[in-house]
Amino acid sequence: MTNCPYRGIQIDMSNQSTTSRYASEVQSRRTFAIISHPDAGKTTLTEKLLLYGGAIRLAGSVKGRKAQRHATSDWMELERQRGISVTSTVLNFTYRGYQVNILDTPGHQDFSEDTYRTLTAADSAVMLIDVAKGVEPQTKKLFHVCRLRGIPIFTFVNKLDRFGKDPLELMEELEAVLGIRSCPMNWPIGMGPDFQGVFDRSSGQVLLFEAGRHGERIVDTGSYGLEDPALPDIIGQAQYQQLKDEIELLDVAGDPLDLERVARGELTPIFFGSAMTNFGVGPFLEAFLELGPPPSPKPTEAGELIPPDSERFSGFIFKIQANMNPAHRDRIAFLRICSGRFEKGMAIRHGRLGKEIKLAQPQQFLAQERSTVEEAYAGDIIGLFDPGIFRIGDTLCEGTPFDFTGIPRFSPEHFASIRPRDTLKSKQFKKGLEQLALEGAVQVFYPEGNYGAPEPVLGVVGELQFEVLQYRLGSEYNVEVVLTRLPYEHARWMKGAGFKPQDFQRQDTTCVTDHNGRPVVLFKSDWALRWAEQNHPGLQFLTTAPMGLADTEA
Ligand code: G4P
Repeated sequence: MTNCPYRGIQIDMSNQSTTSRYASEVQSRRTFAIISHPDAGKTTLTEKLLLYGGAIRLAGSVKGRKAQRHATSDWMELERQRGISVTSTVLNFTYRGYQVNILDTPGHQDFSEDTYRTLTAADSAVMLIDVAKGVEPQTKKLFHVCRLRGIPIFTFVNKLDRFGKDPLELMEELEAVLGIRSCPMNWPIGMGPDFQGVFDRSSGQVLLFEAGRHGERIVDTGSYGLEDPALPDIIGQAQYQQLKDEIELLDVAGDPLDLERVARGELTPIFFGSAMTNFGVGPFLEAFLELGPPPSPKPTEAGELIPPDSERFSGFIFKIQANMNPAHRDRIAFLRICSGRFEKGMAIRHGRLGKEIKLAQPQQFLAQERSTVEEAYAGDIIGLFDPGIFRIGDTLCEGTPFDFTGIPRFSPEHFASIRPRDTLKSKQFKKGLEQLALEGAVQVFYPEGNYGAPEPVLGVVGELQFEVLQYRLGSEYNVEVVLTRLPYEHARWMKGAGFKPQDFQRQDTTCVTDHNGRPVVLFKSDWALRWAEQNHPGLQFLTTAPMGLADTEA
């Protein structure tokens, strides 16, 4: 019936040692991020995955958080009141022998460079799409970061309980907009009020769902073979015929499931459902856990690959979250474990500082509650209290130090010039800005040829970063600042022998240098960027820059 049976297919792990005693721990890890545009249903799906994964009994508890997230000004207050928002980095739970780690990718006003960086800690991504809206701008940006990092992508098309685009049309849109082919793992039966369930192509079963009470609890599922004589009456003759025709079309003309193509980012397994009513969530979780990749070997700056089941512990810091509460200035550094076994209290090498440090009070985030972690393996994320010794991109390991390939700087989209309100505070201002830039809270650019200029240009991915920066300079460095928004929309790191800064000092572009003295051109519009690209075919316009040595030096 189906041409893409997948049960039992394993991702190729042949380049890893299978004799390691950590191999089974590694194989059971699924560390992923959900990428989507705001309002596609990420919060709802996350919660339903927790529900189906047995981590919560009743959905609905995340709702309040969402209302708060929408209000920018509330966010600060919220952070102040509860300290660090631990829930917004990673949630983990155990389900059927899998250790599931869901990384949060903030998407509303809290969309920031952290959202991109978080993807560097994921082994795969679930791209969530609103059936009525298709591929939206934020999804597109996050998709490109996943592609850049070589992360396989699974797709969940949401809100089938509402009318939306035709599923085949959506698959074409994925290909046209994102350049990725899709392989339907299930197929929807009806849409809007007629949405009844999905046809699971792997088992050949029609799964019909019963609407629960607003999706608070797991819904009942009826399962029927496609040739079951009762089926046409249950779903209606017209829908039955349409389903049969569409399945036939997919079997004949669709891409078969090929996990190697998925791993290469050429193909995305696609699922249809409705997170709100729970339709299709259970089968999606099961299939994703089975097909989703476990942690893979990670490359080092020296060109080696570190297998995740290696005996030697290693990991890197991908995010640092400062406590916004002035009474508790601590920070949490989030470490993605890449190999070996983590044990509470273990001593490791901090390569950049050339020091041995003890990881004393590591935190893990178990379905919304913090708990102390006793042991962890590749794929797991732990939070470390940071007395100011960590930077984004730091590698921590046992034995001889080495560095994982750096986390890039991502192209900012909002710009402002900044100066202290009181010029007598220039020194604190400079120090504060430098520290916060090193921490990755903001990117700082200087007018071309004027490194250290008194009024640098700030670049951020999400506007809230400006507010956070302003607040932290005030509370931690006692400097009030004046921010003046600048009308640029894009930044590109420039590469190529023929690059001349003066060519870009124009009405709609300007040339600045980043923290490491690398040339960066700022553009006022898409048009200005396209024009420059067309007129300078010999130059490269890069959307990311490697975090250089100077970025990581204190
Ligand atoms: P986000 O985190 O991606 O921003 O999205 P979120 O889950 O907060 O969902 C955004 C809106 O979409 C919410 O409605 C949510 O209830 C709704 N939603 C999520 N999944 C589905 C679905 O499968 N079907 C339908 N019909 N709606 C869905 P809201 O009105 O903004 O909030 P609320 O009043 O429902 O909380």
